[in-house]
Amino acid sequence: MVAAPAMSRRIRKHANPFNVQTVVGTLDRAATFGREAPLEVDVGCGEGGFLFERAANHPDVDFVGFEVRKPLVEKANARVQAAGVTNLVYLYANANVNLHFVAPGVVRRFFVHFPDPCFKKRHQKRRILQPRLARDMAELLPIGGEVYAQSDVKPLAEEMYAFLAGDGAFESKLGTELRVPRPIPELTEWERHHEKHDEPVYRMLFEKVREPSGEVATPEFRDTDPARLAEAERAAEAVDG
Ligand SMILES: C[S@@+](CC[C@H](N)C(=O)[O-])C[C@H]1O[C@@H](n2cnc3c(N)ncnc32)[C@H](O)[C@@H]1O
Repeated sequence: MVAAPAMSRRIRKHANPFNVQTVVGTLDRAATFGREAPLEVDVGCGEGGFLFERAANHPDVDFVGFEVRKPLVEKANARVQAAGVTNLVYLYANANVNLHFVAPGVVRRFFVHFPDPCFKKRHQKRRILQPRLARDMAELLPIGGEVYAQSDVKPLAEEMYAFLAGDGAFESKLGTELRVPRPIPELTEWERHHEKHDEPVYRMLFEKVREPSGEVATPEFRDTDPARLAEAERAAEAVDG
């Protein structure tokens, strides 16, 4: 039996994982990790292999994974417990409902790896990295804190970049080029798959340079559907002759 992380409030379940309204309360870091070290957070961590590897490489840092699929969270926490890892916990939670689970300034880095592209137009609002999440991360990070994000879907990566750059709290540390070598040594499950098949990955690293201010922008989602994009490209080529 995996010990539940120490939270101030209980978590609610829902049948459809993408409709999960789980709200994470305040994480009691002293009770969960036995200390209050700097935190790194993986939003949509899936099976959690990235954090598992990173937690071993950085014993002075504590790690939290947010994941909306409960069986993945349970399996990942069981692995942590079996291995005796003390600086990592996975939380069953919808990161888009409320990310404020610790005081501002505690999280030094957020990761958003290969978020679901939600190709269907009616599912676009489920995308994790939206202006609201960018703002939540900006509110939680200290100045100098970072957001590292990557995707295998180019238009989605461009959208993620636009949402992060659009908040005003962040500046890109890797310029505007998205095809860059990976700056972080640990691999996620999706990243491992893409490396193995030599498939392109689009990456960005943002630093918080000022406190966020103003309204959170209404998202303008990009079309990520490969069939529709190919069709639009064919139509444009036909017009250009
Ligand atoms: C494509 S997978 C990538 C998993 C992992 N980051 C990787 O790179 O291997 C996206 C993950 O995000 C999770 N997810 C989607 N929406 C979420 C949300 N709002 N809050 C937390 N996790 C979410 C999904 O359940 C899924 O496990």
